[in-house]
Amino acid sequence: MLARSGIRREEASSTALVGADVEVPLVSGGVRRYINLDHAASAPCLVMVKQAVDALLPWYSSVHRGAGFKSRLATEAYDGARVAVRSFVQARSDDCVLFTRNTTDAINLLASALPVGAAVVAFASEHHANLLPWRRRDVTFLPVPHSPEEALEKLDQVLRWIRADTRLVAVTGASNVTGEIWPYAEIARLAHRHGARVFLDAAQPAPHHPIDMTGSEIDYVAISGHKLYAPFGAGALVGRSDWLRSGEPFLAGGGAVDYVRVDDVLWAELPDRQEAGSPNVLGAVALGVACRTLRPTHRGARRGAAQHRSGHHRRRHHRASRCCGHDCPERYRLALPELRRWHRLLARPRPQTTPYDAVRPLPDHHRLNRRNRIRYGRR
Ligand SMILES: Cc1ncc(COP(=O)(O)O)c(C=O)c1O
Repeated sequence: MLARSGIRREEASSTALVGADVEVPLVSGGVRRYINLDHAASAPCLVMVKQAVDALLPWYSSVHRGAGFKSRLATEAYDGARVAVRSFVQARSDDCVLFTRNTTDAINLLASALPVGAAVVAFASEHHANLLPWRRRDVTFLPVPHSPEEALEKLDQVLRWIRADTRLVAVTGASNVTGEIWPYAEIARLAHRHGARVFLDAAQPAPHHPIDMTGSEIDYVAISGHKLYAPFGAGALVGRSDWLRSGEPFLAGGGAVDYVRVDDVLWAELPDRQEAGSPNVLGAVALGVACRTLRPTHRGARRGAAQHRSGHHRRRHHRASRCCGHDCPERYRLALPELRRWHRLLARPRPQTTPYDAVRPLPDHHRLNRRNRIRYGRR
């Protein structure tokens, strides 16, 4: 039976994964059940998500464009997914929820919507997705901090110094390289004291912890479906409407307009204004189902976060907890054995680098090791 959001109400453990029992060939011969250590890059599909997509497929039709039964049902499923994403990130009632392809797409959209003259501040340790789009704007990159306190101190200094009327601090919720959880709520409070807004790249924390935009005073959040166990090509940008509705839309095209003449156009209101072209209905519904499914498991994560704070996880995983922010109190556990090696390399005092030098190697493990070897004379 199809529920309002296109979910088939069938029995499935909420965290069961598609392909969890897949066997792979070994180089030594034989087969073994595959253990996926790469969830931080792209997580497998939740069974619940697959069931919802399977259930919607026979009813798939155009969204916001047709009067037929299937079209109305697909539209309802798409709109229902928007409600699910909104409540997943605990957005304010006047925040806008936009479906995007992924976090990268969401950040590019936000970068294109910044008011003229806006200044952006980001740390050099950000993922490329949260670095490169800002380069098209007036951006200041801060060096990788050694502790949450240093991050706050450096940010405080730079926000005193930057004079632009409109300022945005772009920060990750958790590093994809080190697993460190950034003190983004404190960063948001500090930014607001200076009259700046905050964008949170939640690609990594969203699968683990509740994102509370309202409580943490986050102005904009981006998430990726494929990291939230919904790999159907949708992500989302959620946040304050004013910047997103001013100026030209990120993509121009059908669906984003109310009225068009050869020499004139009247752009539609949000969210349509920033969702030109035929939407990814299946991707959005998959993301919505993942959001609904993961929210209850996040309650357990709250207890996990408390354990982190009490030092429980830190003791058990202390070997993996030395990286850019040596004193970072919370981090996600990382499975890659090579990380230990980079931690040792990264933990050494580094020569002063430009932001570009500092960040370029981070997502590229081999280059990181090579560059550090050169710097420290290691083979
Ligand atoms: C912290 C962080 N931000 C942004 C991204 C980009 O996400 P996507 O590739 O889904 O756009 C990633 C992906 O690994 C990430 O780990």
